[in-house]
Amino acid sequence: MKDPLAPDILQELRKAHRVVVFTGAGVSAESGIATFRDALTGLWTHFRAEDLATLEGFQRDPELVWGWYEARRAQVLRAQPNPAHHAIAELASRLPRVTVVTQNVDDLHERAGSAGVLHLHGSLHTPRCARCGAPHPLPEATPEPGGEGRLAPPRCGLCGGLVRPGVVWFGEMLPERELVAAQKAALGADFLLCVGTSGVVWPAAGIPGIARDAGATVVQVNADASDLDRLCHFNLRGPAGEVLPALLSAAFPGAMGKAR
Ligand code: OAD
Repeated sequence: MKDPLAPDILQELRKAHRVVVFTGAGVSAESGIATFRDALTGLWTHFRAEDLATLEGFQRDPELVWGWYEARRAQVLRAQPNPAHHAIAELASRLPRVTVVTQNVDDLHERAGSAGVLHLHGSLHTPRCARCGAPHPLPEATPEPGGEGRLAPPRCGLCGGLVRPGVVWFGEMLPERELVAAQKAALGADFLLCVGTSGVVWPAAGIPGIARDAGATVVQVNADASDLDRLCHFNLRGPAGEVLPALLSAAFPGAMGKAR
């Protein structure tokens, strides 16, 4: 592990022209949103992904799946962006071009002020018809977070099909526009910051490697070891909500005045 204030990281960051910030569930952990693979609190520790995150699971039991995602959406609506989201948003005001690529289905990057965020795994906030694909307006009322009760999904106003969450499930393709844009940004990056992801879900997990192979400096911020450790030039171990503001204010004195 390198110290976040190590001059080589700071120099690389200051002189970067094209930066990609690649995030996973760990960036939202300090906002109270559960990650997937934490041994104690992870969603996939407590729930079966094949029941809740596959098209087959939805077709088998739409009320279980819709209710679970609506409870997650309610939790996200009540959560607030944390200093990690704010630091990432502020980076864009310090450097010429910053592209945020996230695997997260929450909207905390946007609410912290990041623009043009590429959501590789979709969003809790963009439901669509499972039959015809038409976007569907969000339900006005949201259930209580943690309710996790069954809930009948709405019906599509165009074809009458069941409405499904706008997230990418296991076995599904990633949205092409976002994936191509993310890969292009990684190819052109001179600095990639990888934050709070285990790096085990492909093809998203390939983004840091694309940047590294193309010559970018790759820096990881993670509370723990991850599959990306060996690929990264620098591994900064610690909570993103502490490490990122420290990194930003060390690289750009005066940064993070409000968010820290
Ligand atoms: P994971 O749960 O697999 O990994 C979360 C990572 O965040 C781990 O490496 C933790 O060590 C790290 N972490 C936890 N708290 C942190 C903190 N406060 N600061 C920094 N790091 C922290 O979540 P993802 O990598 O996002 O896919 O999972 C990838 C995909 O798997 C998700 O997008 C989802 C899931 O199945 C779909 O839904 C398609």
